[in-house]
Amino acid sequence: MNANRQHIFLPWTVQEQEDPVLEFVRGDGVYFYDRQDKCYLDFLSQLFNCNLGHGNHRVIEAIRNQAEQACCISPQLLTEERSLLSKELIQLVPGDLDKCLYVNSGSEANELAFIMARMMTGRPKIFAKYRSYHGTTYGTLGTAGDPRRIAVEPGPPGCVRFFDPYCYRCDFKLEFPDCCIHCLDALETQIQLENPATVAAIVVEPVTGAAGGFPLPEGYLKRLRAICDKYGILLIADEVITGFGRTGKWFGVNHENVIPDILVLAKGLTSGYIPMGAIVVRSHMSQYFESRMLPIGGTYAGNPIATAAARACLKAYQEEDCVNNAQKMGALLLKKLGELKECHPCIGDVRGQGLLTCVELVRDRVSKLPLIESSNSASLARLIRRQAWENGLHFLARGNLILIAPPLVVNTDQISEGIQKLDHVLTWLDSTLKQQ
Ligand SMILES: Cc1ncc(COP(=O)(O)O)c(C=O)c1O
Repeated sequence: MNANRQHIFLPWTVQEQEDPVLEFVRGDGVYFYDRQDKCYLDFLSQLFNCNLGHGNHRVIEAIRNQAEQACCISPQLLTEERSLLSKELIQLVPGDLDKCLYVNSGSEANELAFIMARMMTGRPKIFAKYRSYHGTTYGTLGTAGDPRRIAVEPGPPGCVRFFDPYCYRCDFKLEFPDCCIHCLDALETQIQLENPATVAAIVVEPVTGAAGGFPLPEGYLKRLRAICDKYGILLIADEVITGFGRTGKWFGVNHENVIPDILVLAKGLTSGYIPMGAIVVRSHMSQYFESRMLPIGGTYAGNPIATAAARACLKAYQEEDCVNNAQKMGALLLKKLGELKECHPCIGDVRGQGLLTCVELVRDRVSKLPLIESSNSASLARLIRRQAWENGLHFLARGNLILIAPPLVVNTDQISEGIQKLDHVLTWLDSTLKQQ
């Protein structure tokens, strides 16, 4: 066992299979370095969060200044920074989303979003997609459909799962756009069968992250919004990954001009520099809670250092033109991944939006036979990740998926560098598969 991990649990892994563990020492822009000073291109923004890249001076300075002024302030007190951050966020988010609640992570944000939705509607059920991940608490892990839910099966009362618009492997064996998004018709039927008067909210990620790596097809969110309106169901957009420019617009919902009732934010809010999440609700919800007890919150909500980091991040995203860059670099990345597909038979599908992209691996492109049959089988994915590290590249390999999400400040040369390194990894994979 690597002595340095002796007293630490590593998340989402079989501990003993992880050695040797990459030991991060320092980061610089889109690169980071290990204990042997080997350089890695961070094609995952650590875990979809380091949107500004490593060592952003503006954010570090804001953290330092705030730490000198005050590190600990009760969440029940107002500070100028908390008020300003809320005002700035409200200016960025769409429609009449007008009030923020601060938390410390995406999991906590979704957890509280589910609670608020249940309180507001008086209904018990939360609908989530089968291929979704909304966090690691009992309420979020158990509600989402990702296989990691096995840890808390059968999950919290009221969780209901529905089929995804996973077009590459459509559960209904249909093709977009000829299908007219049939999976939404199926969802509506399911809502009727469940009794709409028991459904508090439907939660979706505008682009599914680690649980599937696919964007919602065009038109999906708009129609989902209409279904929610028809039955008085709240729409929760989990933008923990997609928020703050990741998809080439400020928020994933902006692509369809949809206003969710609850917008769930974390990761990019502080570019991962300090833990922070937030939920932002529409005016009908903020009005509802204006005269009623809000029985939720946390000691560290709106921590001053996190608040300062978030404000600095918002400024940096704007001044460094990150959202436009994500859109341009995302288009380039997707094009180059498409070119890789031409050369590597192990690539079944390439998809994404902005700088949130996914390569789905197969054993046979025609039959779409998955590379790994069970999504719980981690060994080949681990070998792929190791091979990437060998090549100085960091991405997420999970099941049949390679997820690539570089910092929003990535440039064309760095995209080319990452693609070249990925090319080497896939060449290794193609030859490994041939030998099996
Ligand atoms: C879509 C989505 N929602 C929620 C979460 C949970 O966020 P956190 O890890 O900050 O608790 C994640 C984490 O990856 C996520 O990808």
